[in-house]
Order: sequence, then structure tokens, then C-alpha cells
Amino acid sequence: MIERIGVLGAGTMGAGIAQLACLGRFDTYLHDPDPAALRAGEQRLRAGLAKGADRGRWTQAEAEAASVRLRAASRLEDLAGCELVIEAAPEDLELKRKLFALLAGVCGTEAILATNTSSLSVTAIASGVERPERVCGMHFFNPPALMRLVEVVAGDETSEETLAIASQVARTMGREPIRAADAIGFVANRVARPFTLEALRLLGDRIATHEQIDRIVRIGGGFRMGPFELMDLVGVDLNFEVAKSFWEQSFHEPRWQPHPIQSRMVAAGRLGRKVGRGYYDFGDGPHRPDDPKPPDRDPGWSRNPEVEDSVHFVAVPSLEEATLVELAHRPATTPADAEAAEIYFRSMGKHVEWVGDAPGLVLGRIVCQIVNEAHFAVGEGVATPADVDTAMRLGFNYPRGPFDWAEAIGPVRVVSVLDELRSELGEERYRVAPLLRRAATG
Ligand SMILES: NC(=O)c1ccc[n+]([C@@H]2O[C@H](COP(=O)([O-])OP(=O)(O)OC[C@H]3O[C@@H](n4cnc5c(N)ncnc54)[C@H](O)[C@@H]3O)[C@@H](O)[C@H]2O)c1
Repeated sequence: MIERIGVLGAGTMGAGIAQLACLGRFDTYLHDPDPAALRAGEQRLRAGLAKGADRGRWTQAEAEAASVRLRAASRLEDLAGCELVIEAAPEDLELKRKLFALLAGVCGTEAILATNTSSLSVTAIASGVERPERVCGMHFFNPPALMRLVEVVAGDETSEETLAIASQVARTMGREPIRAADAIGFVANRVARPFTLEALRLLGDRIATHEQIDRIVRIGGGFRMGPFELMDLVGVDLNFEVAKSFWEQSFHEPRWQPHPIQSRMVAAGRLGRKVGRGYYDFGDGPHRPDDPKPPDRDPGWSRNPEVEDSVHFVAVPSLEEATLVELAHRPATTPADAEAAEIYFRSMGKHVEWVGDAPGLVLGRIVCQIVNEAHFAVGEGVATPADVDTAMRLGFNYPRGPFDWAEAIGPVRVVSVLDELRSELGEERYRVAPLLRRAATG
């Protein structure tokens, strides 16, 4: 039974995790070796509790009770009585290894030690700890107060009991835990790789502009933000660092190869929102116009194979369900064919976007690669299909999980887009996950 939780590191993640622990009715000890960081983290936490009460997320009384449960611990030794410590110190393997060895000494052999690392190996962090079976990952998402996902990560030696306790604590904190193996990027960060990397390929191959790709992904895919808006938000430089880390850790997996556009953007200082310009310019006004409303549907609309045949069109997951149809010219498409096709799909009540021709066009290519990555992850034992879907919905607000997409699009169609991409572009990155191919062949 866990009653007292220590949180190591009072930065962005540590303060947020400690807030969840206080609200989960745990006695919470927050430590940071930097007194200014500890003070700032404590203030952020208390302000967060008050703000949540103002917004009705919890009551004033709950906020006050949670606030009382917080102790700002100036020394690591103050964490001595904690049954679980969650580490949220900087992303540095040597530092984390050192901290875990120290924590094991301070908290004794029974305490569970969890790391919030996003990209380091839990097994490597646990390697210097006596009884590594009580070390696991508890990977929260930013900001912890709003993102409901926690990836509970099993290192090679982690015991089932440790995982069960960490999952239970995450639930008591009001989060949704999923189980993940100690593989590069765990689940959500890994399965999200194609969201930005395929978008960069599409831009590099001049299939569409970044504004078009974002619009298609938002309107057609139901994602809250397009990939270029996302890179601008998190920082083009940080996104590039993460991309390089995946590629290097995997010994150059082709699916995870970064794109030269990323290094060019960083070299140009176009780092995103934080500097006022990235893919978009963040001047005084909004960085993009609001998305338009869909055209009115003509009640007399009916399918017309002849018009559909005169262009290459892609609607995801299906023409009936799609909100947007992407159109591309075939070599034989005449201006009259193009106009007829546009009128035809608009009168079906669909948004229309013209892009360059390539298998899957924009949304199909991005989504099929996300589905493919998810099947690789499951095939490699990283997580179950249900947990992958939960991870993508709760960790990144995806409108559907990849397995849900696969079912809606149909595995046969997903595989055919990937096979066509591989054959047309000759790139290994589009090889189909064995699990997906098996799903397609039934
Ligand atoms: N920021 C994110 O989006 C995010 C999301 C998930 C996971 N993470 C992971 O969470 C961890 C923390 O990230 P962050 O964004 O909160 O970083 P941060 O820089 O905001 O906070 C790190 C804190 O650790 C403190 N610190 C430095 N040395 C320390 C030590 N020896 N012992 C304890 N604390 C120490 C620093 O003073 C700072 O307050 C990293 O492992 C990161 O990969 C970050």
C-alpha cells in the first residue's frame, strides 16, 4: 500500500506529477537540489491547484487538502519514508543512474523507484540498483495535469508486482495506465513518429504545402493540429533532436530517418512559436485562417464512377465517412475532368484539396504509416493493440487509435498503399509490418 510518494525534480514534469500525487491523496515529498527550482515548482503546483478549483475541476476543499499534503523537501534524504519515488530529473542517463543508486540507499530495498524518462532505457537506469525488479518507468505526458496517459514501462528485470503497484498509483492519480516494454520511445512517442516524418517527406516530395498538409490532417483526419503546427509548438529543434535520437538508438531504422528539411529549419533559426517563426510566422495575428465549413450537400447527389475515374482521389477512412477528399491529376485528366470532379465531391458535402499525385496522397500516407508503426510495435511485444490505441488517444489526443483506423480503412487497403509507396519510391521505410500483412491476408 503506497501512502507516501517522493518526486525527484521540480521542473515542468516533476511539479505536475507531484500535483497529481497530492490530488490522489498521497503524502507528497517534492525534491529538487536547486532551491530556486524547488520554490518555483512548489509555487506552480499550488497555483495549479487553485486554478483547477476556480475552473471547477475539483472543489476548493479538495485543492486545500491537496495543498496540505505537499512537502517541499530540500534534501534528498527527506524522501527516506517514501514507498514510491518518481524521478523527473533532466534527461541524462549518467545522472539518472547516479540518482537511482542514491535513492536506493535513502529509501531502502523495498521502495519502488520509477523514472519519467521519455527516451532512455529503464533497464539501463535500473542497472546500478540493488533489487532492480522494483524499478520501472512511469511515463507521464505534458502537461501531466491535463494528459491522462501514463506508460508503465517494464525494464528487463521489473517484477509484475512493481508494475501492478505503479499502475494502481497512476489510476489513483486519475490517470489511465497502459503497459509498455522497454523499447525505444515506448509506445506513444514511437507510434507518433510518422505523423511528422511522413509530413516532412510529403513536403520534401512537393506533394503538398505545409499549410495544405496541416489542413488535410485537421479537417480530413480530425486531428487537433497538423504536423507542422505541432513541430512549431513543441520546437522545431526539439522535434529534430527526438527524431535523431530515435534514428541513432535504432541503428538507423529507415522508418525513423530524419529529414534534411529539419536540419535546414534549425540552421535558419526557424525554431517555431518560441522564436516567433517556424513553418508559420507568429506575428501579431493568428498564424493561419480558421478552417472553412464543409460545402452544402446536394440532396440529389449519387455516385458516378465515370467522374470518380477521371482523377486520383483518396478519402480516409472511406468516401462515405470522410469529411475531406484529396484529388490529384492523372496524366490523362483534362481541365474539364478536374472541374467536374471538384463539383462532384463538393456537392457530396466534402471539403476538397488538390495535391500532387502519390500513393495514398497525404492523409492516407500518414495514417497508413502510423498504422504500420503500431503493428511493428505490437509485433515486437511493446504493447497490446488496445493499449496502443489508448496511448495515442490519451497521450496525443488522436481522434482514433491506429488499430481503430486499420479497421475503418481495412488492412488490405492499408497494405496496398504501403506496397505502392515502397514500389514507387523504392524505399525500405514503407515495408509492411509482418503483423499487418498477416491481418490483410486474413
Ligand atoms: N517536458 C516534457 O514534455 C516531458 C514529457 C515526458 C517526460 N519528460 C521527462 O521528464 C524528465 C524531466 O523533464 P522536464 O521537462 O520536467 O525537465 P525540467 O528541466 O523542466 O526539470 C528538471 C528538473 O530537475 C532538476 N534537477 C537537476 N538536477 C537534479 C538532480 N540531481 N536531482 C533532482 N532534480 C534535479 C532541475 O533543477 C529541474 O527543476 C526528463 O526525463 C524528461 O525526458 C519530459
